[in-house]
Amino acid sequence: MQGGLALAGRLRAMRWLRDRYGSAFTINVPIFGRAVVISDPAEIKQLFMAGPEIASNLEVNLGRVLGPNSFFALDGDAHRRQRKLLVPPFHGRRLGVYETVVEEEAVREMASWPEGREFATLDSMMRITLNTILRAVFGADGAELSALRDLLPKLVRLGSRLAVLPIPHTDLGRYSPWGRFYGYRREYDAIIGRLIGRAQRDPELDERDDVLALMLRSRYDDGSPMSHGEIADQLLTLLTAGHETTATTLAWAIERLRRHPAVLRRLSDEADAGGSDLRKAAIIEVQRVRPVIEGAARQVRAPTMRLGRWTLPRGQVVIASIYLAHDNEAVFPHARSFDPDRFLGSRPDSYQWIPFGGGVRRCIGAAFAHMEMDVVLRTLLCHFTLEPTNDRDERWHSRGIAFSPARGGRAVVHRRPGTRFRTNIRPALARSSDAP
Ligand code: HEM
Repeated sequence: MQGGLALAGRLRAMRWLRDRYGSAFTINVPIFGRAVVISDPAEIKQLFMAGPEIASNLEVNLGRVLGPNSFFALDGDAHRRQRKLLVPPFHGRRLGVYETVVEEEAVREMASWPEGREFATLDSMMRITLNTILRAVFGADGAELSALRDLLPKLVRLGSRLAVLPIPHTDLGRYSPWGRFYGYRREYDAIIGRLIGRAQRDPELDERDDVLALMLRSRYDDGSPMSHGEIADQLLTLLTAGHETTATTLAWAIERLRRHPAVLRRLSDEADAGGSDLRKAAIIEVQRVRPVIEGAARQVRAPTMRLGRWTLPRGQVVIASIYLAHDNEAVFPHARSFDPDRFLGSRPDSYQWIPFGGGVRRCIGAAFAHMEMDVVLRTLLCHFTLEPTNDRDERWHSRGIAFSPARGGRAVVHRRPGTRFRTNIRPALARSSDAP
């Protein structure tokens, strides 16, 4: 029954099960397998705060696809060691230096937007977020930038499909899916090797702000540097985790705003006046009503784990349902309606609003994603008027990693006459010679 329901519509099935059984229930459906799903904030807090010896990373193939040094393949001390090194580059305070890159990429992409004709924005958002990560995180420019821009979408698309399949024991040849994947991966490693080599020879490495340069300069507690293999795996992880998630959220923002003309008007006025409070609240609300990742999963490692009213055995998979947590009427009155004012002037609670997961595995790119979405939306509002619509809401479409609006976040835009390009930009990212 559950399998059939889930195939007919995963999110609707989850809602139905929650309405029938309450905030915690067990599912056994394709893709998820057998898992306990929770959505009560107190129980979510307990799960996120449990140490890795109690509940930790779910073993998924993502680690095998992204490499043994990827965040998604690590647990316990090895995971903690990597976070200690890679959380600081993504700290909110330092992100101002990347705003220039985002704004340049948004302006370049939006220059080709058609006027007065409906089009899907998702592909544009994917290009903006890909180019932003390649420049701000990989520090890529010139030949490497265009090689990675060409290679990475293919590698990530194939990798996320293979992540749910078993690795075959026999070599099926270089034209088989795994053969093609390993071919792409070899190409990727060669490009990253060249990028690292160039960065190490760069006399201005110490002044550079891209995350690759920060990785090369960083040291573990024992004074040792990150190995090239660690850098390659983590760069690929940052791209896979950060590119599609941010782009799909932006496409949802377009989809929601077009259906809420009063909010859209206020956002436009606010952008003209140089403000940002409502825009930031709107981004938080888009992530609440349209979370692009469905749940954050953990697996019980201790012999038993006490969670709220239950005792769970070792091996039990537990999913904190982001979708159901945000659809909780007791926490968010009129939960299905889009109302950015609920977050105006207040920060959301860490266990009620969980689009970035939580605890020691919380998304390290959350502040980066917020900065990026804020700059892209600000650029859009300053350059265009977005036409409201009475069309039906776009349905949810699963793309493998993230949920996107099924029609790609369709927009109709008009260039604003005589609008000067408004910018709040701080100093440009060091060495942005690849700027258009
Ligand atoms: C709107 C955009 C984004 C969303 C919705 C999102 C969501 C998430 C979620 C739900 C997790 C799992 C957290 C958990 O298990 O508790 C995660 C992990 C992660 N995210 Fe994001 N993410 C976004 C953007 C980014 C960006 C821009 C980056 C980096 C450039 C990034 C890098 C990562 C990494 C490295 C992890 C693994 C952390 C770990 O295992 O320690 N994400 N993200």
